Amino acid sequence: MKIAFVASEAFPFAKVGGLADVLGSLPQALKTLGVEPTIFLPWYWGIQGYYVGEVEFRFEGRLEQAGLGHAEHQGVRYVLVGLGDFARDRPYGYPDDFRRFVRFALATAELLRDFEIVHAHDWQAALLPLLRNLGWFKARTVYTIHNLAYQGVWGSQDFYAWTGLPGETYYGAGLEHHGTINLMKAGIVNADAVTTVSPRYAWEITTPEGGEGLDGVLRAHQHKLRGILNGLDTQYWNPATDPYLPYPYHADDLSGKGQNRRALLAQFALEDRPTLGVVSRFAHQKGIDLIAEAMDGLMALGVNLVVLGSGEPQLERTFTWMAQHLPGRLAYVQGYNEALAHHIYAGSDGFLMPSRFEPCGLAQLIAMRYGTPPIVRAVGGLLDTVRHWETGFMFDSADAGGVLHGVREFLKHPDREAVIRQAMQQDFSWDRPAAAYLELYRSLLGH
Ligand code: ADP
Ligand code: GLC
Repeated sequence: MKIAFVASEAFPFAKVGGLADVLGSLPQALKTLGVEPTIFLPWYWGIQGYYVGEVEFRFEGRLEQAGLGHAEHQGVRYVLVGLGDFARDRPYGYPDDFRRFVRFALATAELLRDFEIVHAHDWQAALLPLLRNLGWFKARTVYTIHNLAYQGVWGSQDFYAWTGLPGETYYGAGLEHHGTINLMKAGIVNADAVTTVSPRYAWEITTPEGGEGLDGVLRAHQHKLRGILNGLDTQYWNPATDPYLPYPYHADDLSGKGQNRRALLAQFALEDRPTLGVVSRFAHQKGIDLIAEAMDGLMALGVNLVVLGSGEPQLERTFTWMAQHLPGRLAYVQGYNEALAHHIYAGSDGFLMPSRFEPCGLAQLIAMRYGTPPIVRAVGGLLDTVRHWETGFMFDSADAGGVLHGVREFLKHPDREAVIRQAMQQDFSWDRPAAAYLELYRSLLGH
């Protein structure tokens, strides 16, 4: 079965968040099940690939060429699709992001003729199911929503000049949403199957509270919507073999975890207290502001924090300022740092994740695998993966009081080592989810 995955991130080539982890491990898991996966990824600056030629496509009313590169990760082929003048060193954050990814989708669509399934991820690839319905290629299409909050919205008809698509697709193919172009909506409407990354989130997005304005559309397409929980690359995320860790460890012998903890505390000159880790994008979704609001209370409870992350500048400034004023108790490192992330997962006593919403969440899975009980808000994939008091801790309210309640639960548990062991024994591999995707692909192909 030949499957094309199309997405804007894939580890280790380009990573902002969990989308990259999925595109760097689900195809590999499917390959062991006999599938032939190819991943199509924008060729951002700095990604090493072998130039293999180019593809011609129409953009802005003329024929254009996109350079093509090949790269490989764990035996799976990645095709890098050149972005021309739209290449940048990071995936997002530019004023022309919408146009960049429309161009990426149009170029990629020319490469999909030999595939039986095209599996598009998030708004950056959401145009593909519509292009299939216009006859550009023949594959069955799956569209996965990793985050409904980012929809690929564009307020003007320039879209039609860029793509050359027939004007009737505005209303006729689900592109229009409240007077704007909405690629997420078009993905949902046009795909043969729509999935999201946890069963709970699959339900939440059909409600007005979780639907980000698209709950009505999702309810209308509920018959083809389902949640499949993400897995982890359990070889990469393995505390027994992780090359980033000074002291490897195992559920049966946690002494290395204690040594990593001491090293982490020493690195940031923290007092010897229960220490909570945070590794996160600084976005409204993640409730990082709730941690800031709860900071006085957290200090009063006697915990330390080690925080790694970047995103909203105001939050970065707040944490920089707070860390300066709380030496020995709060460490903050701004930026993306793979090595430090591993240290924090391994060396912390608990992992704090107060998300307002969470489609799946991989950070809490990694934390559990590293024996660091997550303290999470009871929402989305967090609710589907953490068991309160058994493998982690949960709280309900999205405010400072909620965060403090969760941390109090963590502190009062009488046998934290049992929680650590139970967390480490969970199976968060791709075995089950990959089999679920395969079953979905098969059903779409009528097998
Ligand atoms: P999201 O995709 O919404 O950001 P997930 O929990 O699904 O959330 O995935 C986040 C992924 O990104 C995890 O692999 C996490 O370790 C990683 N990550 C997030 N922020 C950073 C950072 N600042 N440095 C290193 N890794 C990070
Ligand atoms: C998104 C979501 C996150 C999910 C990830 C991978 O970034 O925010 O919850 O784990 O996609 O599916």
